[in-house]
Amino acid sequence: MTTQPLTDRRVAIVTGGSRGIGRQIARQLATDGFTVVVGYAGNKDAADEAVHAIEAAGGAAIAARADVADETEVAALFDLAEATYGGVDAVVHSAGRMSLSPIADLDLDELDALYRTNIRGTFVVDQQAARRLRPGGALVNLSSSVVGLAFPGYGAYAASKGAVEAVTLILARELRGRDVTVNAVAPGPTATELFLDGKDEETVARLAAQPPLERLGTPEDIAGVVSFLVGPAGRWVNGQVLRTNGGIV
Ligand SMILES: NC(=O)c1ccc[n+]([C@@H]2O[C@H](COP(=O)([O-])OP(=O)(O)OC[C@H]3O[C@@H](n4cnc5c(N)ncnc54)[C@H](OP(=O)(O)O)[C@@H]3O)[C@@H](O)[C@H]2O)c1
Repeated sequence: MTTQPLTDRRVAIVTGGSRGIGRQIARQLATDGFTVVVGYAGNKDAADEAVHAIEAAGGAAIAARADVADETEVAALFDLAEATYGGVDAVVHSAGRMSLSPIADLDLDELDALYRTNIRGTFVVDQQAARRLRPGGALVNLSSSVVGLAFPGYGAYAASKGAVEAVTLILARELRGRDVTVNAVAPGPTATELFLDGKDEETVARLAAQPPLERLGTPEDIAGVVSFLVGPAGRWVNGQVLRTNGGIV
């Protein structure tokens, strides 16, 4: 763990940092020496737990509530990061939701809610990141391998993540001259509540058996890749989608 003074450390905002993949990313970036702002939507206890785990390991973090689709709340979250720690060097946009339905039966109100978080939320967070990341900074969006895998039932969710990938690739080019990288990480099935909720054991076992590595991904698997992308070794990776899924096709 770094012994640098707080004001000299790089600063990361992790949306969805309170649970699942985002929580592990927040923890990993704190271990890498970042001061971390842990974003969450409503579950304050989970966000506080994430912060305490980082502090217990010797890192520095604060929790900040913001609905990622609300531009005023997200702007306030970035204001807080800048006012408390002096700037923003990494933004990892992990907040997201999933709902599954065959397209023929899709509830269009649910589609709107999904798109509000996953698409509008990505535009809102990425807009702030584009305006505020310091030179040398990095933005990582979370997509999903289902964009390519085309599993039945994932139509609305995969379409929302297709949008995330389009935004990622275009923003990387729009930020020419800023010394800021923009990439997406696209996990396969990863053992978090978002993936496990509503699935029976047989479905989970079937999905876990699909990658050649024959297991589900873990939040640690994904956090390691994000750590690489926002760290010095990942500096030459820009405008890419990294399918991080154990080789599932
Ligand atoms: N798990 C997988 O298999 C998998 C695979 C591919 C891609 N992904 C993507 O990876 C990302 C993280 O997924 P996960 O599995 O870690 O999910 P998760 O365990 O369900 O955690 C979701 C996180 O997002 C936050 N969140 C949800 N809606 C929000 C909103 N409107 N505004 C702000 N924060 C919001 C939640 O905060 P609260 O607790 O406060 O609600 C929570 O911290 C998502 O983008 C997901 O689509 C996951």
